[in-house]
Amino acid sequence: MQPHEAPRSGGIEPQPTMERRGFLKAVGSAVGLAALLGPATLRGVEAAMSNAVGLTPQQAAREESLWSSVQQAFTMSRGLINLDNGFTCPTPRVVSEAVARYIGDQEEVPYGLWLRDARSRMGTVRTGLARLFGCDPDEIAITRNATEALRTILYGFALKPEDEVLTTTQDYDSMLATLEHRQQRDGITLTKVDVPTPPKSMDDLVGMFERGITPKTRLILLSHITYTTGQVFPVKRICDLAHQRGIDVLVDGAHSFGHLDFKLADLNCDYFGTSLHKWLLAPKGTGMLYIRKDKIEKIPPIMSPPPRRGNDRMRKYESVGIQSSAQNLGIGEALAFHNAIGAKRKEERLRYLTHAWAERLQAVPTIRLYTPLTPEMSCGIASVGIAGVDPTALHNYLWEKHRIQTSRGYYEEGRTLLWLRISPNLYTTLPELEYFCEAMEDVAKNGLPEPYRSYKPDLNRFNG
Ligand SMILES: Cc1ncc(COP(=O)(O)O)c(C=O)c1O
Repeated sequence: MQPHEAPRSGGIEPQPTMERRGFLKAVGSAVGLAALLGPATLRGVEAAMSNAVGLTPQQAAREESLWSSVQQAFTMSRGLINLDNGFTCPTPRVVSEAVARYIGDQEEVPYGLWLRDARSRMGTVRTGLARLFGCDPDEIAITRNATEALRTILYGFALKPEDEVLTTTQDYDSMLATLEHRQQRDGITLTKVDVPTPPKSMDDLVGMFERGITPKTRLILLSHITYTTGQVFPVKRICDLAHQRGIDVLVDGAHSFGHLDFKLADLNCDYFGTSLHKWLLAPKGTGMLYIRKDKIEKIPPIMSPPPRRGNDRMRKYESVGIQSSAQNLGIGEALAFHNAIGAKRKEERLRYLTHAWAERLQAVPTIRLYTPLTPEMSCGIASVGIAGVDPTALHNYLWEKHRIQTSRGYYEEGRTLLWLRISPNLYTTLPELEYFCEAMEDVAKNGLPEPYRSYKPDLNRFNG
């Protein structure tokens, strides 16, 4: 284990020792240096983090002085509280400034010349992504988002009539829609296992898949972290189960990449699609597709490339015509920012922020959490509801009266909204979370004021 790595099982934070007190002094000076270098710079963040090596990631997660430089590295307005990072995360300043620079640079020379240089720089970005994911750079394609990456597999995977695809009721709605399209077009069978909210254990989740598999199952689609409640799935156990039966697995990692600290070997999946503009904090319009080397040839791209792109090469999935290279180059700065903080430290900070609000609200009798807080089962996303309070009305109230942005949860059977999804980020402060908790506790005690109290959900809106 590296010195900065924490034991996977969590554990109780030790009391400060002499060594730790010395460390805290060092943190103080590192933060001073960060202030001098400026929070906008990567060096400022690196300086703030440089002395966290003496702490476990769980200890570092609680050290507010370390995170204040990180908070200032973002330009997110403090006139509102953004607890909807599950949608798309704001990039830190170092990323948005780099993208603006790249946009300027690419207008200075003929585009062909610029592209030659940009493509060679993209080689470095690709290597950085592959290292973070733990695969060969030749096994990844850079896509425009997770949707493009995941649909490449969902449309490209060869399925005959009556072949079955197994997924869950809580996989992303556009992916389910893609599979429903294949059901109509190709006559496949789509089976969705129902995910309890919350499930009792990881064993429960494995058992659901075990029971859902039939001799006709060819492909499993599963989210590493669900978009509904932030539930983390035991991906490797499900992949191992599937592989023993000759079934391929596509993992929807839209919420896990750059959020949880893991490598491909921890999943052992055949295909992985993710957004980079979510938790990696890369520019909008960036995603990544991984395909295990020996499967690349059998998955055709959605848009046919010219023959020079080769049927066995990942570049064939990037043939989408001309687009700005600025956002793809900006992935490089996002990787540098991510690495400066450290993947495990970032994961633990996101988990700590979630626990800061969720443990407090869990103590209120009428408030219900739909996400288990055990470390292996969740991280920076969790869902919450108040008995008798319509989540859409609550969402509108929090925004209109408190400028707190949340995401409305999930429509069971397309009709019933069950919860609010709360997803803070590295720039979120503890006072912001306290303010959110106070607003929720007030509603739990007094109900919503008018006109929110009389809000009637328009159920038909969600029928299409
Ligand atoms: C689980 C999940 N999969 C896929 C997507 C699609 O991501 P993108 O917007 O990058 O295409 C989302 C978006 O929120 C998601 O939550």
